[in-house]
Amino acid sequence: MMWHRPEGFSLGGTSRARLRVWNLTAGYGPVQVLRGLTFEVKPGLTVILGPNGAGKTTLLRALNGLIPRGGDAMLDGAELPEKTHEIVRAGVSLVPEGRQLFGQMTVRENLELGGWLFSKAEREHRIEQAFSDFPKLRERALQLAGTMSGGEQQMVAVARAMVSRPRLLMLDEPSLGLAPRMVDELLGMVRRIADAGTTVLMVEQNVKKALAVADRGYVMERGELVASGDSRLLARSTVVREAYLGAQDSQTTDARDAVQRRQRGQGTATPVG
Ligand SMILES: Nc1ncnc2c1ncn2[C@@H]1O[C@H](COP(=O)(O)OP(=O)(O)OP(=O)(O)O)[C@@H](O)[C@H]1O
Ligand SMILES: [Mg+2]
Repeated sequence: MMWHRPEGFSLGGTSRARLRVWNLTAGYGPVQVLRGLTFEVKPGLTVILGPNGAGKTTLLRALNGLIPRGGDAMLDGAELPEKTHEIVRAGVSLVPEGRQLFGQMTVRENLELGGWLFSKAEREHRIEQAFSDFPKLRERALQLAGTMSGGEQQMVAVARAMVSRPRLLMLDEPSLGLAPRMVDELLGMVRRIADAGTTVLMVEQNVKKALAVADRGYVMERGELVASGDSRLLARSTVVREAYLGAQDSQTTDARDAVQRRQRGQGTATPVG
């Protein structure tokens, strides 16, 4: 049985939201990580690629209000608020790096946390929808989240984010540490969420698979966006092929290898598309 209902998602929007960002800056104390990023997240599935330490997580955290940001951000023409709970209310939800479930709480209790902004009745309704979107989670409702496999936990994390019924769903390396088959199922699920009308912004290290499911992508290095474009064009571009996919289109799909290759002075960064 698939982890999610293949016909689509009752949770999540059909709003096909659009996020536009100008000159985004963010960092930690005196250290500026994001150096004025201007980009757009269109309806569909957008992926952000880049080596370790590029600032991908920092970008998602800034957009989610977990760290202060500079610049301007508009979600469907309305200014993106600054505080996390207001951002969630505005329709933006983050599946954080490392999932960050509460391991000593049940699956159901973790989902309840995704609906903390809503009335009890509304929350119950949304959790019921989550169980119909993710039928396997219903069977596991009372299991402690910490006792689930990595893949199962990632599904709970996505379901938890969907309980807030986002217009923009952001995911930080959802496939990290998962077996290849689980990676495929997870990315397929993310694709369906986007197809159902929730705009998705995803950070991924699994470059080849991410570009295969995404509509478009950005490549980030040292706090800057160095390439962008249609995902098929990006996959064929020199910057991505040399830095992330390996010269002979080898099975090397992990961006972590790319960092080392880049540090050895190979690969160039040129915008495409
Ligand atoms: N809490 C923090 N305090 C200080 N510096 C931080 C903090 N978190 C991240 N950084 C620094 O900010 C930079 C960007 O980190 P970030 O986590 O955004 O990178 P990333 O692209 O998500 O990397 P990875 O692929 O390893 O997840 C790094 O130099 C990192 O050391
Ligand atoms: Mg990260």
